[in-house]
Amino acid sequence: MKKENKNRKESLLDSDVKVNDIAVEKDLRPKYLKDYIGQEKVIEKLRILIEAAKKRKEPPEHILFHGPPGLGKTTLSHIIANELGVNIKVTAGPVIERAGDLAAIITNLEENDILFIDEIHRLNRAVEEIMYPVLEDFVLDIVIGKGPSAKTFRINLPKFTLIGATTRIGLVTAPLRDRFGATYRVDFYDIDSLKKILKRSADILGLKINDEAIEELARRSRGTPRIANRLLKRVRDYAEVKADGKINTDIVNDALKLMEIDEMGLDAMDKKILNTIIEKFKGGPVGIDTIAVAVSEEPDTIEDVYEPFLIQIGFLQRTQNGRKVTEKAYDYFKIKKNSQEKLFNE
Ligand SMILES: Nc1ncnc2c1ncn2[C@@H]1O[C@H](COP(=O)(O)OP(=O)(O)OP(=O)(O)O)[C@@H](O)[C@H]1O
Ligand SMILES: [Mg+2]
Repeated sequence: MKKENKNRKESLLDSDVKVNDIAVEKDLRPKYLKDYIGQEKVIEKLRILIEAAKKRKEPPEHILFHGPPGLGKTTLSHIIANELGVNIKVTAGPVIERAGDLAAIITNLEENDILFIDEIHRLNRAVEEIMYPVLEDFVLDIVIGKGPSAKTFRINLPKFTLIGATTRIGLVTAPLRDRFGATYRVDFYDIDSLKKILKRSADILGLKINDEAIEELARRSRGTPRIANRLLKRVRDYAEVKADGKINTDIVNDALKLMEIDEMGLDAMDKKILNTIIEKFKGGPVGIDTIAVAVSEEPDTIEDVYEPFLIQIGFLQRTQNGRKVTEKAYDYFKIKKNSQEKLFNE
């Protein structure tokens, strides 16, 4: 659903990549709460929400998941449906173009169903406004005709649960946000959780991989299960071609070197972004649009995909005047801040 950019290399973070990657992702996706690794606080709250809904025999309140890509928002939404034993209908913000599109989806829902809207920050205003009474009172107001002869029909809907997901909570309007009873932030995973996720995936895929190799992959997965799984898959391919299929640290190192992924899990684009700010803009602050032009990438992609992790590891800062590279990043790249440093009032 992301905007196309032909200049762009395939990123490990893309949610829309090769078909066989998607198939693997589906196999590796945990289906019930008990299989879910990490995000303990979110899981605990979800457990309560689900239990309570089951006891009351009512659908749970509308739920909003937010956080960077590949951390489990879609997975959790499917888990909720599985735990409740209800149907889940899946759509996405940009797909629902007109009021009629929404009406068609919503009038097809059955009592207790879950409607999952991915990229909910990209719903257009007209559709969003129709959503408000739907979410609040389970009624759909349809206007037929135009001008003074226009008539409004009200349709009663079955009680359902909307689950919204977004990488950009800041772009979800306040009135929409207010209509969710529960909002959960998914965060980057720690090394321990990533190790468990990788072990589970390796088991499912039937791979021979030792603990050091698992650890190395976990450290280089950007705190992101989607990346962990994809690295694992690429390393498997590498091991099958270059070695006897067994995966050890050497294989991991060689495979990741080929993929231009460094010790911290930074890829070519991460480094390009940081280096550009350092070299062309004296370390910043510099606006996101300017950075985007300099690295030939969409500003949205930089903000959604790359920036959150760079901020998380303390390499990048968001300031009022734009993005700034930190000392920590200078140290990491072994670049000395030169005399231009005086230009900043730090
Ligand atoms: N806790 C977990 N345990 C094991 N695997 C996980 C976990 N969370 C996510 N995954 C794996 O990571 C993949 C990506 O997760 P998911 O698609 O749910 O992310 P997302 O947050 O919806 O990303 P996007 O914002 O790009 O839509 C899943 O297919 C699944 O295989
Ligand atoms: Mg998703």
